Amino acid sequence: MSQSLNILFISSEAVPFVKTGGLGDVAGVLPKILRKMGHNVRLVLPRYYSIDINKKNIHHLPGPLGVPMGILGELWAGVYESTLPDSDVPVYFIDYEQYFGRAGIYTDEHGEGFKDNDNRFVFFSRAALQLTKRLFFTPDIVHVHDWHTAAVPVMLNTFYQHDLHLASAASVLTIHNMQHQGNFYPGLMDVLSVGWHHYHPLGLEHYGQVNLMKGGIYHANAINTVSKGYAAEIMTAEYGYGLDGVMRDRCKSFFGIVNGIDMQEWNPEKDPYLSEGFSAKDLSGKEKLKAELQKKMGLPVKPDIPVIGIISRLVEQKGIDVIAEAMPGILSMEVQIVLLGSGAPWAHFYFGGLAAHHRDKMSVVIGYNEPLAHLIEAGSDFFLMPSRFEPCGLNQMYSQRYGTLPIVRATGGLNDTVDNLNEETGHGTGFKLYYLSAKSLFDTVGWALHIYYNRKDILRNMIREAMSRDFSWERSARKYEQLYRIALKKKRGRHYRISALPEKGKKSRKKKT
Ligand code: ADP
Ligand code: GLC
Repeated sequence: MSQSLNILFISSEAVPFVKTGGLGDVAGVLPKILRKMGHNVRLVLPRYYSIDINKKNIHHLPGPLGVPMGILGELWAGVYESTLPDSDVPVYFIDYEQYFGRAGIYTDEHGEGFKDNDNRFVFFSRAALQLTKRLFFTPDIVHVHDWHTAAVPVMLNTFYQHDLHLASAASVLTIHNMQHQGNFYPGLMDVLSVGWHHYHPLGLEHYGQVNLMKGGIYHANAINTVSKGYAAEIMTAEYGYGLDGVMRDRCKSFFGIVNGIDMQEWNPEKDPYLSEGFSAKDLSGKEKLKAELQKKMGLPVKPDIPVIGIISRLVEQKGIDVIAEAMPGILSMEVQIVLLGSGAPWAHFYFGGLAAHHRDKMSVVIGYNEPLAHLIEAGSDFFLMPSRFEPCGLNQMYSQRYGTLPIVRATGGLNDTVDNLNEETGHGTGFKLYYLSAKSLFDTVGWALHIYYNRKDILRNMIREAMSRDFSWERSARKYEQLYRIALKKKRGRHYRISALPEKGKKSRKKKT
């Protein structure tokens, strides 16, 4: 049997409406790819008040949406509707001023998580499921992401197990980051109201707290994370943040599917943020963009000095503390550093201060800046990303597509998507360090600079190889189809052959619903 699916995608962020990191990129593009493959996908997001509802293509759906919240009673939400750009994928925004009518997505202006994040995202999860009734939408798959929506599989297995629209929906949970699990006080059980009998170690309870991610992992029909490498890692104590045993428990339903990138948004030949286009065949545009970047960042415009770019949330995950420790040594080499990011206040002061002392070598922009991110990817020679752990990582893929060689730690998705240089063969697309320390980071940067200065032949080869890598979403989206098939089999006990479009070389089959 071959069929297209009804897929309800529930995420706490998605481009172009709201993004704090890679989850936003993934949730904004994967639904469109699945739609192109013939599936009927709908996306649900919170209506953060940074989303401008006065934009032309955002409409209000009439009537309130009732959202039962256990001990808090029924709350009434508004719903707005739009589509993902360049697609007909509907997007629904759940509007509830008390929870989303504020600046910030997950944290306040000091970087502290909002005190009511538990209620905010339990509410959002329940509202997204309630919405299916309003839309008369019967999903085959409900696909949720990270702890924010991990309560959904629990809700499907409890409130909605006999529901007209949701009883046969299979749930898929994608883990984008195991560090953040949604750990809250036990009283949240009364808001979730799925029954205290779900408060146990093979359900929602984790060391005396409610752990939403854990509940999602135990209740989802299938689970994945965003690279094979990270899938293996989070089954170990070092990377599992206390849930490694849970992942091992569910390993038969747990997979790694690497993210793709939006090849239109990140296309060096026609990137609307850039004044020049370039390709592997003609890199002259990249040289001009390097000069533009140096000028914009107030660095000496020198074509022969290698520029290392960093674009990052300035948090421990990204190895920012190790970069900080290694940076004085790195700055003693003939190099320029360009850093764009925000996060830990100490990092703002530290890197800002360092740049003030090395005005001809380092330039720092604290903040979030999409156009500058594109210019850094295009105009740098190297991209630095020595993450402590990295579920997938997108910047190292953008870099390779822009001929900017990544210097990465061999972990998770970074290890899976970057080929370490083999100096004997001259093959590779980047430089890897295996042990995370300031010394090995310094050494690996030194290695990259040695290749830059002394082995132009290898450098050119690496740039060509990096730019020809295929990071498109299509292959991974096919893997998600397979994951959906597995989830459906678990839920409904039947085999499914899901392929809305025939694979290349195969005869088309008649659509059956
Ligand atoms: P994570 O989601 O863990 O932060 P990813 O590499 O998956 O890491 O995704 C980060 C995304 O956020 C990329 O698209 C990156 O370009 C973008 N990004 C991060 N920091 C900034 C910033 N300061 N300005 C612009 N874009 C940023
Ligand atoms: C998370 C991870 C990052 C991944 C992104 C999208 O933010 O930290 O590695 O690329 O999700 O899946």
